Amino acid sequence: SFVPDIILRVTSEQRTIAGMSQTYPLVNGSYPGPQIELTAGQRTWIRVYNDMQGDNLTMHWHGLSQRVAPFADGTPEASQWPIPPSYFFDYEVAPDTGDEGTYFYHSHVYFQAATASGPLIVRGAASPYQYDEEIVVFVGDAFNKSGDDITQGLLANPFVWSGEATAILFNGHSGTTNYNGTNATSPFDPAVFNVQPSKTYLFRFIGGQALSLVTFGFEDHSNLTVVEADGAYTKPATTDHIQIGSGQRFSVLLTTKSEQELQSSGKKDFWIQQENRNRPASLVAFSVLSYDNSTSALSPPAVNPLSLPQDVTTWLEYTLQPVTPDDFPTAAEVTRRITITPVQVSNGSLIWAQNNLSWTEATAPVPYLVSIYENGESAIPNYNASVANYGWDPVSKAWPAKIGEVLEIIIVNDAGPSGGFDQHPFHFHGRHFWDIGSGNGTYDPVENEKKLAGFTPATRDTVWSYRYQATGDMYQLLGWRGLRVRVTDAGVWMFHCHILQHLIMGMATTWVFGDYKDIIQNPEMMQGYLTYGGDVYGSDSN
Ligand code: C2O
Ligand code: CU
Repeated sequence: SFVPDIILRVTSEQRTIAGMSQTYPLVNGSYPGPQIELTAGQRTWIRVYNDMQGDNLTMHWHGLSQRVAPFADGTPEASQWPIPPSYFFDYEVAPDTGDEGTYFYHSHVYFQAATASGPLIVRGAASPYQYDEEIVVFVGDAFNKSGDDITQGLLANPFVWSGEATAILFNGHSGTTNYNGTNATSPFDPAVFNVQPSKTYLFRFIGGQALSLVTFGFEDHSNLTVVEADGAYTKPATTDHIQIGSGQRFSVLLTTKSEQELQSSGKKDFWIQQENRNRPASLVAFSVLSYDNSTSALSPPAVNPLSLPQDVTTWLEYTLQPVTPDDFPTAAEVTRRITITPVQVSNGSLIWAQNNLSWTEATAPVPYLVSIYENGESAIPNYNASVANYGWDPVSKAWPAKIGEVLEIIIVNDAGPSGGFDQHPFHFHGRHFWDIGSGNGTYDPVENEKKLAGFTPATRDTVWSYRYQATGDMYQLLGWRGLRVRVTDAGVWMFHCHILQHLIMGMATTWVFGDYKDIIQNPEMMQGYLTYGGDVYGSDSN
């Protein structure tokens, strides 16, 4: 009989995170969940049990293309029926050769990803970079309501906001000292990263937070080199601080001080200072880079050691390039440009709509892939109708694209009728896209081509649509972010804001790449699915 390679069990348990005791969905009883290690070019079967009571579940392998296993992408209403309580689903998780890098997994149901999530590392060919050790840092944030309460409020009429994040978490620890200008109420419990002198560390930072755009730096260690973004190696990019949002990953080389440098500094512990950006609540938090394995209780620094930049819109923009050329589509190759304008709309509740379409549970009564499997060609969205309607088909509410198309998607960040304005980390499932930059004002293809001349953008799976602010006030300016997508992999792929609150408020689009024959008549894609993965209703006999 079939034996899965890895087993994950999601439970709902009482825990204290950042001083707040709540019921949290957890993977194998911990937050972050266990680190999963996969091998590039090799399929792994992961059985996910829903051991929660009363809540559905799916598990998504964030950043993996899943091009040979679209049925195992873990998206409710898109790739599968959700797993009901006391059932399991067998996921075929298949990183490609060349996918070595940093990823994560998380539930894709409502607010569960805030804690039902964990690191996923793809190993394989040797890294082009040398280092001695690696340290995985799972970034998170905390709220003073349970995920169920947050979800209910966001979907309620009248709308109830989740509240702002009350803590920044590194590997589940909160060294938060400042909450909205006052002292934090959570105990000071910073993550401690033990290092040795004169060694090079690869820090794998994973943006597992729900809401916060987090900026951080290392006290007296400003020699940071970004070498990977979203699962792809980049040419070395030096910086003195890192900025990471929900869904993003960056790997960073840091060479520690020599014994001599340590002695002259007179210190063995250095702060890692973390702050959030562009939210009404300002958080300041700390972790520790420790050269002496200090386990003694620490108290927060009297004075913040770093002054981190306030502006977020320029960090490594037009900077990250792939180590090897990666087939970046030129402007001439683009077959279709789609402009997507997400705006906040008040309808009693508050929703986000993309070109007038907001995602709700009712949008796809049957998950698109399941519907295509059952109903065939007739379930494929109408391409011509979508082209005439800002990109989406009015009947199926999906965004179709044909294999072979090269899309240029421009996200326009503008204030909507309710006046709501925010920043958004946009994440595409499926194969990664090329980030063609961002700016304030309106996208000007001619001007942007000048910036792209001689530059090969890195592939990404999550990039920010920023809010541009005139210095010194909250005046909010129009801005854009551009991406190019080669439509190569048939399947159903979500493209959404990775801020969990916004996703729940409808900030998602679902794309159908290819047609019936591309998806269902592809024996490679269907074989594993039909043999093992298709049975959402396999009952929990364990
Ligand atoms: Cu990490 Cu659709 O999500
Ligand atoms: Cu958003």
